[in-house]
Amino acid sequence: MRLSTGIVGLDAILGGGIPKGYVVAVIGSYGTGKTTLGLHFIYEGLKNGESGIILSFDEDEESILRNAKSIGLSLENFKNLQIIRLEALTVKKSFERIESELPELIRNLNANRMLIDSISVLETLFSDHERYQILSSMKRIMKFSGVTAIFTSEADKYLPTASKYGILEYICDGMICLKMIRKSELDEPTLGLEVVKMRGIKHSRKPKPYMITERGIVVYEEAEVF
Ligand SMILES: Nc1ncnc2c1ncn2[C@@H]1O[C@H](COP(=O)(O)OP(=O)(O)OP(=O)(O)O)[C@@H](O)[C@H]1O
Ligand SMILES: [Mg+2]
Repeated sequence: MRLSTGIVGLDAILGGGIPKGYVVAVIGSYGTGKTTLGLHFIYEGLKNGESGIILSFDEDEESILRNAKSIGLSLENFKNLQIIRLEALTVKKSFERIESELPELIRNLNANRMLIDSISVLETLFSDHERYQILSSMKRIMKFSGVTAIFTSEADKYLPTASKYGILEYICDGMICLKMIRKSELDEPTLGLEVVKMRGIKHSRKPKPYMITERGIVVYEEAEVF
């Protein structure tokens, strides 16, 4: 079974959406639309009567609702949405609490979609060794709870198709990369979306142009970036 991302062009690239139960990384540099893509995914579920959880390490609830509204997603109308804002530093001090409370929260809300925005903020606070454990633990919780999840992450400074710490892409079942592509320093950048991996699925790897508009993200799956 596939879960629609709420973005028509992206669903088309994926052949219908994200496979149920997958944990998918959405990576990109600042302002490329990672949070927006995640919000589309959550909103699509809410619209269909599903429940969703947004675990935010970046923006607070008010800012998430405001930004969603600016692209026409009225998240505030839904009771089956829970937005949790966590301070990464607090989580670091007691990661065991997340491990014990998050599955319970997902069960209580009967959530089947989850957005963690951004996981790289959390990763920043841990050493290489701990980072792998934290990410595997987060993925295990998602799998155990049966939710389909998007983890957003900053991209590597020099390699737009890699996550900041280079571990997330191995842990996740799929990875979507959002890139700002510049022909030259003087040109306006073109935004390109690339499905880098999606286990068990045949998909194009070609970067497809997308735009962020007042209706949110629009992916032009039949066009070429240049
Ligand atoms: N209503 C809107 N109309 C047009 N463009 C918008 C609108 N809202 C947001 N944008 C564009 O989307 C960008 C932000 O997208 P988003 O917050 O999803 O990016 P992000 O990758 O999560 O960024 P960050 O790394 O800072 O968290 C804005 O910088 C702006 O260019
Ligand atoms: Mg963001």
